[in-house]
Amino acid sequence: MREKLRHLKDEAWRRITEADDTGELDKIRVCYLGKKGELTGLLRSMGSLPPDERPEVGKMVNELRGQLEGFLKERIVDLEARELQRRLELEAIDITLPGRQPAFGRKHPLNQVLDEIKAIFIGMGFEVVEGPEVELDYYNFEALNLPPDHPTRDMQDTFFITDDILLRSQTSPVQIRVMEKQRPPVRIIAPGKVYRVDFDATHSPMFHQVEGLLVDERTTFGDLKGILRAFIEAIFGEGRGIRFRPSFFPFTEPSAEIDVECIMCNGRGCRVCSHTGWLEILGAGMVDPRVLQMVGYDVDQCQGFAFGMGVERIAMLKYGIDDIRLLFENDMRFLNQF
Ligand code: DAH
Repeated sequence: MREKLRHLKDEAWRRITEADDTGELDKIRVCYLGKKGELTGLLRSMGSLPPDERPEVGKMVNELRGQLEGFLKERIVDLEARELQRRLELEAIDITLPGRQPAFGRKHPLNQVLDEIKAIFIGMGFEVVEGPEVELDYYNFEALNLPPDHPTRDMQDTFFITDDILLRSQTSPVQIRVMEKQRPPVRIIAPGKVYRVDFDATHSPMFHQVEGLLVDERTTFGDLKGILRAFIEAIFGEGRGIRFRPSFFPFTEPSAEIDVECIMCNGRGCRVCSHTGWLEILGAGMVDPRVLQMVGYDVDQCQGFAFGMGVERIAMLKYGIDDIRLLFENDMRFLNQF
C-alpha cells in the first residue's frame, strides 16, 4: 500500500509539474481527487485492509490528499499569473506609435487666385455677380454685338446645345444680364466657368474668366487704365511694365489688349513670352454704344468700360505653371505646392 501511494504521489507530482495550463491542472485534479479519482478510490478500498493498518494508511492518504491539493493550488496560481502576463503582452497597445494625422485640405490654386482677384476688385468698390453657364445665344453673342453668321463669332469655338442654347464661351453675357436689370451706375465683376472647343498645353475645354463692367455718367478710358494698372500691380507686384495695345472686340470700341512685362524674364525675352518680353493678360475697352442701346441705356447719359481675363492664365504666370492640364488633374504632388 505504501508502495502504491508513493508511486501515485510521484506520478501526480510529475504530471502537475509538467502541466502548462490551468485546464490541464483541473483534469489532473479530477483524475486524483474527483469522485471517481484514484485517491478517492484508495480511501474507499480501505475496508479491505487489516483493521490495525487502517489508521496509519488513512492518515497517509489524507496527508497525500492535502499535499496534492496544496500543490495544485500553488500551480494554478502560478499558471494563472503566467497566462495573464502572456495575454497582457499579446494585447499590449504601443502608445508610443505616432497617431494618424488628419489630412488638412487647402484651396485649389485656381480658387486662391480667384479669391485674390475678387478681393482686389471688391476693394475698389466692385460687386461680385454670377450668371448661367448654359446660356442663350442672344446673351453670349447677339446682345454683345455679334450677330448670327458674323465672322467674329469664329474667335470663339463654341459648344452649341441647340441652335440658340450653348455653353457660354465667355463671361461677357453676364454684362448684359446685369444691365437688363439695373440702371447705371453699374460696377460689377463676374467670375465663372466658360467653355470652348480647345485642348492643349495652354487651352482647356473648360476654364475660368473674370469679367468686369463699369458704367456711369462719365466713365473714361483713363479710368479703365487706372483700374487695370492697380489690379495688375496688386496681382503681379508693383513696378512691372504694362502696355495697352489696340485690338478688336465686337462689344467694345475702342478695344485694347493689355500686356504685362514678362514675369519669367522681366522683359528680356524668353520662351514663355515668345521672346517679346510681354505677356497678354487681359482684353478690355469702352463698351460699344450698340451694346448699351441693346439693353435700353441712353448713350447720351452714360458710358462705360469692360474687361475680361482668364484665371488659369493668371495662375500659370503667377506660379510659373507651364501646362494648364496640371490645374485639372488633381495630382496631390502638384496641388500640395500651393
Ligand atoms: N470676352 C472676351 C474673351 O473671352 C474677353 C473680353 C475682352 C471681355 C474685352 C471684355 C472686354 O469685357 O471688354 O476673349
